[in-house]
Formats: sequence, C-alpha cells, structure tokens
Amino acid sequence: MGDQAKLSVAGAEHDYAVLKGSVGPDVIDIRKLYAQTGAFTFDPGFTSTASCESALTYIDGDEGVLLHRGYPIGQLAENSSFMETSYLLLNGELPSKDELASFENTITRHTMLHEQLANFYRGFRRDAHPMAIMCGVVGALSAFYHDSTDISDPEHRKISSHRLIAKMPTIAAAAYKYSVGQPFVYPDNKLSYTGNFLRMTFGVPAEEYEVIPAVEKAMDRIFILHADHEQNASTSTVRLAGSSGANPFACIAAGIACLWGPAHGGANEAALNMLKEIGTPDRIQHYIDRAKDKNDPFRLMGFGHRVYKNYDPRATVMQSTVREVFDALKVNDPLFETALRLEEIALSDPYFAEKKLFPNVDFYSGIILSAIGFPTTMFTVLFALARTVGWVAQWNEMISDPGQKIGRPRQLYTGPTQRDYVPLDQR
Ligand code: ACO
Repeated sequence: MGDQAKLSVAGAEHDYAVLKGSVGPDVIDIRKLYAQTGAFTFDPGFTSTASCESALTYIDGDEGVLLHRGYPIGQLAENSSFMETSYLLLNGELPSKDELASFENTITRHTMLHEQLANFYRGFRRDAHPMAIMCGVVGALSAFYHDSTDISDPEHRKISSHRLIAKMPTIAAAAYKYSVGQPFVYPDNKLSYTGNFLRMTFGVPAEEYEVIPAVEKAMDRIFILHADHEQNASTSTVRLAGSSGANPFACIAAGIACLWGPAHGGANEAALNMLKEIGTPDRIQHYIDRAKDKNDPFRLMGFGHRVYKNYDPRATVMQSTVREVFDALKVNDPLFETALRLEEIALSDPYFAEKKLFPNVDFYSGIILSAIGFPTTMFTVLFALARTVGWVAQWNEMISDPGQKIGRPRQLYTGPTQRDYVPLDQR
C-alpha cells in the first residue's frame, strides 16, 4: 500500500490514499471523505485542490518551469512551430515529418467558415468588443457543424477539435475586420497557419499582402506560449462545461467568456493600458506606491500569478521577442523602456519580493502585439485563438477518461435556515 494521510473528524480517524503524479506535489485522494465523515472540504479558489488527472502540461510555479508533454516551453518556443506544438498537445508525442504534414494539411482544409456565419457578425454593433463577438460566433458554430457533435465518438471529437483550431484564426480576423469596417478576407491555403491569420487580419482585397517572416515567426511563438497552461480558470471552465456532455463548440465559447476577465486573459490588454497610463519612467514610482497601498485597488497588471512564484518562463521568451519584432518592423516603442524599468524597480522592491510577484506572460505581450498592429481589444482574442488548442486537448482528455463525472462542487451554506413564507400583506 502507498502513503496514507490521516484525518481525524469528530473523534474518528480516517485514512486517505496519497496519490503520486510523475512529478509535482502529492495529492490526497479525498473522494470518499463525504461518505465517510459527512464533511466537505472548503477551497473556494481551488488553491489546494487538484480537480482532475492530466498528462498534458506541468507547471512548477516555484521554479518557474512549464512543460508540455514533458518538453520545456523555452525549447518549444525556440525550436517548434505552433502547429507542431498543437499536435504534441493533442496527441502526446512530437509528430514525424509525415504526421506533421498531414496534420497541417487537415487544419488548412478546415480554415473556411460557413458563409452564413458572416450574418452573425452583422448583428453586432461596430464598436462591439471582439471578445463579445468571439463568444457569440464560436458558440454559434455548434449550429453549423452539428455533424461532429457526438462527443462519445472519438472521430467526431477529433473533427470538431480540428475545426475549432482551424477556424479560430478566421473567426478572430473577421472580428477585427468587422470592427474596422473592412471586408472579410478569405483564408489562403498556401500560407502557414500564422501567416494566413496575419493576412486575414491585415490584408485587404485591393492589395497583395506580404507576410513578413520575422513577424510571422514572432506571432507563431506567441501562439506557442499561450497554447496551454494546465487547469487555469478558462480551461477549468471548458472542462466543467464539457463534463455535462455539452458540445465542444459551446464549451470553448464558455472558455472564451472566462478568459475575457482582467484577472486572466484580459490582463494583457490591461497591462498595456497601464503602461500607457504610466507613460514615462519618471512616473513609475507613483504607480509602484499605488500597487503597494492596501487602500488603493490598483494592481500592477501583468504582475503576479496564482501558480508562478518565480519569473514566468513565458515572460522571458516574450521579453526577448520584443526586440526581434522591433528590428523586423524598424520601429521602437518607448513603452518598452518603461516596462523594463518598471520590472527592474518592482523586482528590487521588498513588497514584490516578499509576495513573490514577478512579470507574467502578459507583461510584455501587449508591446509586441501593438507593434505588429493589433489594437488592445484584440489581445485577448489572440490569447483565445492560441489557447483553443489547450482547451480542446484538455476537453478530449477529460471525455476520454472512463472515470469522468459531471463536475459538481459543493458549498459551505451560510444563508437562512428553513423558514415559512410570509404573505405580502403581513410583511
Ligand atoms: N500588484 C500588486 N499587488 C499584487 C499583485 C499585483 N499585480 N498581485 C497580487 N498582489 C498582492 C495582493 O494584494 C495580495 O496581497 P496581500 O496578501 O497583502 O493581500 C498578494 O499579492 C496575493 O495576491 P492574490 O490576489 O491573493 O493572489 P492570487 O493568486 O489570487 O492572484 C493574480 C493572482 C490574479 C494573477 C494577481 O496576481 C493579479 O491580480 N495580477 C494582476 C493581473 C494579471 O496580471 N493577471 C494575469 C495572470 S496570468 C494569465 O492569466 C495569463
């Protein structure tokens, strides 16, 4: 028998198995706790709770390590492509040359949208936030592709996963085009996944669009950095929605809704807005003081993370990508200097050191995306596009698990106890 944890409740002792992952903290298996003790556990932000078993992504937040199927994110960002990383996440192993070519071919063949989907965009106001459009349009996919929504059929799951990954750039680019009043650009299957997305976003029918290889590479790397991040809020949302048997398009729409929040995917938009507000390095100290002030709700956006208590390894890659993009586009953004200085000042301040607050993936991404030409409202959309791979991989893993159950948390009830209804004229 493996390790046991002992818990004493109301004078009675109970043993619980301690499960071991391949790496990472042990997990106390409390599935029988309620049946044995009549008590629940209380962990509202899931800070101590493993909600599932997963073989996709591993994070060691203290050491600043992120592995996809065992491969460090730095190595993938340096050597892999978003398509290859997607294959890895979906299938568990890096593809052979033929497997990669076949996967890319499949994804490329699914990039077009049903023409009627264009009508959905027209229902939105021009100034709609593109994340609002994403929630609506992705949710609507289930009304168009219901030939692949039998979630008990692995082949259906595979097709709908491929459709989601393939169509997301087309949907995201159309959300942007709609907001600027330009015609939608159809996919061009000669281009790479990322090159195609850039052309659909920034190209216009009146002119040839030339993909700049360095920008394509940087964008592809940004997609790799966002591909998956184990059981974060939006992924847990996708899993919870999927646990009821909901179709994958509806589940991914739920994930997009969760990602939108400023504490999660919305932080890259908030981080750039904050840097713009700070402006020049001489104003940094004022904002550092505000972030430290308990009575001020202001926080340094792009700083801190629930899991990383060290430098987010994605932020390191992101920081080095900034200069690459600046060089390729022959631009410079003084906000980068402000960001570097802000990081330096914050990291040497005891408040941030004691609370282990470091730059996260969102701190530098806004500067790159802005240099490429994306408005801030599109930042979270790009995150959603890339994270779709992680979402569908996690969703597939969950549905394939024979022990899968509907997710149904319990609660610590603090409302009134039972009381009798009082008629209106007696209140
Ligand atoms: N600026 C200033 N203080 C902070 C910050 C920050 N960015 N982040 C956390 N703190 C402080 C909190 O005030 C708290 O202080 P206290 O212990 O004195 O009360 C302490 O650090 C712990 O913070 P919590 O909010 O309890 O930590 P939690 O793990 O719940 O939050 C979160 C993590 C939401 C990411 C938080 O650090 C934050 O709001 N950061 C800014 C938003 C952001 O960048 N989000 C992106 C996350 S990465 C992603 O989603 C891709």
